Parts: sequence; structure tokens; C-alpha cells
Amino acid sequence: MAEKLLVTGGAGYIGSHCVLELIEAGYEPVVIDNFHNAIRGTNGLPESLTRIQEILGRKIEFEEVDLLDQAALDSLFKKHKFSAVMHFAGLKAVGESVQKPLMYYKVNLTGTIQLLEAMNAHGVKKMVFSSSATVYGDPEYLPIDEKHPAGGCTNPYGKTKYFIEEIIKDQCKADEGWSAILLRYFNPVGAHVSGRIGEDPQGPPNNLMPYVSQVAVGRREHLNVFGNDYNTPDGTGVRDYIHIVDLAKGHIAALKKLLSINSSCKVYNLGTGVGYSVLQMVAAMEKASGKKVEYKIAPRREGDIATCYADPTLAKEDLGWKAEYGLDRMCEDLWRWQSLNPTGFSSQP
Ligand code: UFG
Repeated sequence: MAEKLLVTGGAGYIGSHCVLELIEAGYEPVVIDNFHNAIRGTNGLPESLTRIQEILGRKIEFEEVDLLDQAALDSLFKKHKFSAVMHFAGLKAVGESVQKPLMYYKVNLTGTIQLLEAMNAHGVKKMVFSSSATVYGDPEYLPIDEKHPAGGCTNPYGKTKYFIEEIIKDQCKADEGWSAILLRYFNPVGAHVSGRIGEDPQGPPNNLMPYVSQVAVGRREHLNVFGNDYNTPDGTGVRDYIHIVDLAKGHIAALKKLLSINSSCKVYNLGTGVGYSVLQMVAAMEKASGKKVEYKIAPRREGDIATCYADPTLAKEDLGWKAEYGLDRMCEDLWRWQSLNPTGFSSQP
């Protein structure tokens, strides 16, 4: 029988791409989401999941559950026998987290603690956690491997990722029945090759590539490039962009590992090992879309770092996973999603 998994936040950008890969790999995900970031379709399901159902030609189990609702969590664990949990749910906007720190700590930390409590109460002691390279703060050296000091992040969002990692590590130490894998993502971009699911930020995008693709499709006038005086080859910020499908496949590799280990908590970077600048990303998107992406040089964004890219060796050695898709493919897939769905999930085909 297929392993049944709980996927929290499975209707969001990263979660939905992982749900698709999980099903293709033969797992049975049960998705929960509270619609904070996901769009509800006319059938009451998240639109992302409806579209995955169409791609795969099968149903996905979904329940509208908020992690702050302990009673709902409890009945969920009573109803299903899960082998493991993939935990994506959480608030994720860096700027908003500076304005509303209490909301971020409550939702991300309390939500996770309640989830861990429900898991404990029902004897489900395996978790893959959606962490971020943000836990490394301003890099002390490059490329960043998993031994790089963590915890130096300056905004509440990043701190919640770091605190959750620590909470999960402590739980694994306290109970040898527990094991967990913490995945530190670099910069996920792109979309599934079908062009049916992708990233759909509500309001002006905070992240580079959704903004660039919205300029290319004519939804926004120009990109603001946040600083061109960094110590990088062209002065603009350099990041390790990873195709969302590669990232999702990294979760499948991590899950296989998790189901085979006992009593340990492991940390892996999910990145490509290659850094590109903002202007290189703009040029790559112009090439993929055939559209001009207008931009203006603007002041640096507070809290931004110059350069960040991964050493992905450990994931290769331990999980047998490495990123396969290059920059052109990331932009081609992003453009297919953006041009087929100019207004995201609310676009009608
Ligand atoms: N950038 C612009 N203009 C924009 C948006 C971004 O020039 O409108 C630049 C940024 O200054 C940076 C690069 O594009 O140099 C990437 O910025 P993103 O906001 O896309 O990504 P970040 O690396 O800043 O942030 C991402 C995730 C966070 C995570 C962080 C660290 O969005 O969740 O990586 O891992 F915390």
C-alpha cells in the first residue's frame, strides 16, 4: 500500500509542486491548507489542486485545516494513518514579518508546535520541514555548506525558520523515536512544464522572478532593481535560483531517506551551486519570453545581501539528488505559466 503523508500548506507554490511529484512517485498525500496564500476555486478546492487533479487525472484528498486549530488537527490524525508529514505551511513575506512580527511568530511557531504535538500524540514521528537559506544570514563564506553558522537572520520571517529548525532538532533529541529532515531552500523559481500550476503572488510580488515575469506579460510597468553597487560582477545581487520541479524532486529524495532512518535530524541545502545576478535573470527572461523587461535602478532593499549560493554536495552524496534544470529552462517554464495565466490562478484557460 502507498505511504500516506500529511502535506501542510500543500496548495501553495512549493507545496503544490511537491504534491504533484509525490503522487507521481507513488505516495498518497493528504493536503491541508487554510487558504491564506492559496486561491479557492469554484468547487471549494484550492485552484492549484484542481489543476493538479486535471494534470494527473485523479483525485487528491484535501481538507481545509488551520494549524492553529488543535481540535481539527487532532481529528485529522485520528482519521488518517500517516507515515510522515511534509510541513510547508507558514507565512513567508519578509517585509510583512518586520511590520507584524507577532503574527509571524504566532502562525509559524505556534502552528508548528501544535502540529508537532498532534504528531506526537498520534505516534507520527517523521517530518520533512520547509526551511530556507535565509537561516545562514549574511554569508561568512561561499558557497554555503550546511556547516555554515545559522541563526544570523535579521527579519522575523527568517527567525521563525531558524527557531522551527531548533524546535524540531530538540524534539528529535528528546525522543529517539523521532527523525526529521530540514531542507534549506535557495531561490525557487519556474513552474511545472504543463504551465497549469505556478507561483501566484497576491498583490505586488516581493520576489524577483514573479515580478520580472509580470513585467514581461505587461501586468507591471517596470522592475525596480534593488541596488547596482554590490560587490558582484555587475553590481546587482547574486542568488542561487533553483527550478521548482528540481526542488520538489529534492523532497522526494529527502522523504525516501527519512522513511529509511531512525533517531536523527538531518539538514540539507537544496540549491544548484550556481549564482546569477539580477541583470542576468532579467536577460534570461527576455530571451525566454521574447519580451523586453523594462527596469530602473533603485536603492538597495534593506536587509538584502550581495551574494548567496549553495554548496549542494551533501544532498548529492546523502540523498542522491541534484538539480537538473538550468537557467533557460527555469525561465521558459516560468514564461509558459505566466503567459498562459496572466493573472495567475484566476485566469481562465
Ligand atoms: N530584487 C530586485 N527587485 C525586486 C525583487 C528582488 O532587484 O523587485 C533582487 C533582490 O535585491 C535580490 C534578488 O533580486 O538581489 C533576489 O531577491 P528575492 O526577493 O527574489 O529573493 P531573496 O534572496 O531576497 O529572498 C529569498 C526568499 C526568502 C528567503 C531568502 C533567503 O524569498 O524567503 O531568499 O534565503 F528568506
